[in-house]
Amino acid sequence: MKTNGVETVTHDVLIFGTGLAGLRAAVQIAMQSKDTINMALVSKVQIQRPHSVCAEGGSAAVMREEEGDSLDLHAWDTVKGSDFLADQDVVYKFVERAPKEMMLLDHWGMPWSRFPNGRIMQRAFGGHTFNRCCMGQDKTGFFEVQTLHDQLMRYRNFNRYDEFFATSILHKDGAFAGIAGIDMASGKYMVLRAKAMLIASGGLGTLYGFTTYSTTVSGDGHALAYRAGLNMEDLEFLQFHPTGLIPNGILMTEACRAEGGYVKNNTGTRIMEKYAPKMMELAPRDIVSRSEMTEIKEGRGFAGPDGLDYIHLDLTHLGADKINKALPLIREVCIKFIGLDPILEPIPIRPVAHYSMGGVEADINGATAMRGVWAAGEVAAHSLHGANRLGSNSTTECIVYGGITGEEIVKYVQSGSPLLDVPQELVKKDQKRIYEDLLQKKGKENLYDIKKELRAAMDQHASVYRTGPEMSAGLKKIKELQARFKDIYITDKGSVYNTNLMNAMEVENLLDLAEILLTGALTREESRGGHARYDFPNRDDEKWLKHTLATYTEQGPKFSYKPVTITKWKPVERKY
Ligand code: FUM
Repeated sequence: MKTNGVETVTHDVLIFGTGLAGLRAAVQIAMQSKDTINMALVSKVQIQRPHSVCAEGGSAAVMREEEGDSLDLHAWDTVKGSDFLADQDVVYKFVERAPKEMMLLDHWGMPWSRFPNGRIMQRAFGGHTFNRCCMGQDKTGFFEVQTLHDQLMRYRNFNRYDEFFATSILHKDGAFAGIAGIDMASGKYMVLRAKAMLIASGGLGTLYGFTTYSTTVSGDGHALAYRAGLNMEDLEFLQFHPTGLIPNGILMTEACRAEGGYVKNNTGTRIMEKYAPKMMELAPRDIVSRSEMTEIKEGRGFAGPDGLDYIHLDLTHLGADKINKALPLIREVCIKFIGLDPILEPIPIRPVAHYSMGGVEADINGATAMRGVWAAGEVAAHSLHGANRLGSNSTTECIVYGGITGEEIVKYVQSGSPLLDVPQELVKKDQKRIYEDLLQKKGKENLYDIKKELRAAMDQHASVYRTGPEMSAGLKKIKELQARFKDIYITDKGSVYNTNLMNAMEVENLLDLAEILLTGALTREESRGGHARYDFPNRDDEKWLKHTLATYTEQGPKFSYKPVTITKWKPVERKY
């Protein structure tokens, strides 16, 4: 059907993003409603190609209580790992549901690695005091996506919108009406109406140049939600994974260290003896990354290309058998990308942008402030990870919150939620932005230069360690880039697969998010988790035990704060 010349399609529910969280929610909705709720699955790539397939190490859950693990222990590890910024009620909900979700995956055919007794194999992971990371070799995310996708294929009541680039969220009086976007294959601008939506669009990691993310991950869901009036929460907490491969940033999974790998400086010393003598290489990521940067800054690293000085991840003592069995992907990637065999030589690594702890503000059930909209996966901030996420809690969060939000959405739709009329003024505004302000513009700035400079600025000014003057310089640069963005020139004026236009909108999204991240970080005068400042080196619970909220205004983000939910554990010093 066409409304004002725009093709408009109606569904019950829209799933925006089809990574682990989106797929898990879709399966839940189909299963719980007995396939009576019609879904639109929207992905800017093909629905089997989300960034979740890149998740390597595994998914944390308490599966062996009889051997000493417990929900309390998983919750405590998560809270302590979060530098006490996690909401503790959310943490409990998460740890309680996680084992059931792992068993569901198991029943759905997930090819887990297994102990000799047939139980799901679990390895150690950073910051966890029990080996609770359920694993499928070092390709766990790939297998999980495949399992959920296969499960979804049992149902029929959904339409796929592969390669659909969402451009705005349509809403009225605080309630959801639909989304607008472009079908990339045909270039057709469309509106998808629905009663409810799950935002599960993943992270924002291409904000950085040195990153583990696929090039597709550009914070689109974040930016659309922000412009539609939803708060961005805690965006200053960006996780740097300790082991990004030099020179391209590909993830060298924490499983390398879980399997016994060492992190060594240029004297061959295991650096973590000094910084975390108990947990060593398996301390939480914020601590290992800070330690590596200290070693590099104090001259105990190796000179790397383009300023990417590095240290070593040494697996050589593990032996060929262990590496081939538990870390085959790591070996393959090292050989293919840098011609190095980790059985024989240490791997050059340094901290790399890997995960955003912050995101769209959502409550304990994933509901956002917009009626009919939920969020799950990396795009969401349920305040589970606080200031630093523990490795292997992310894929579990996607699956747990995909399940929870799926259940909530079914209840909402079955309770007779209305299908709203699409506000045509928002559609017109969106079309003007895309076709007049961007596509027809005859500017002189090169979009890809802006993107390159943005990522370099973030690498330089908002990295593992930060200072006020550095972040101010970074923010000034972002504002300069935002101004230059208004004068870009889009070379491709066509409609079919206009990736040039799509890239422009991605950069626009990233610029907004960079501004929020840097302003929030500059304001937060303390060090906590992923936010470490040389000029404010200590955690300051008196002033900063609170979540940051950024609200969209025409003039830039407006900041406010909300308390952390503490149900059990008061903050104490973190020692590992
Ligand atoms: O190191 C890894 O395999 C990453 C896992 C995670 O981010 O949870």
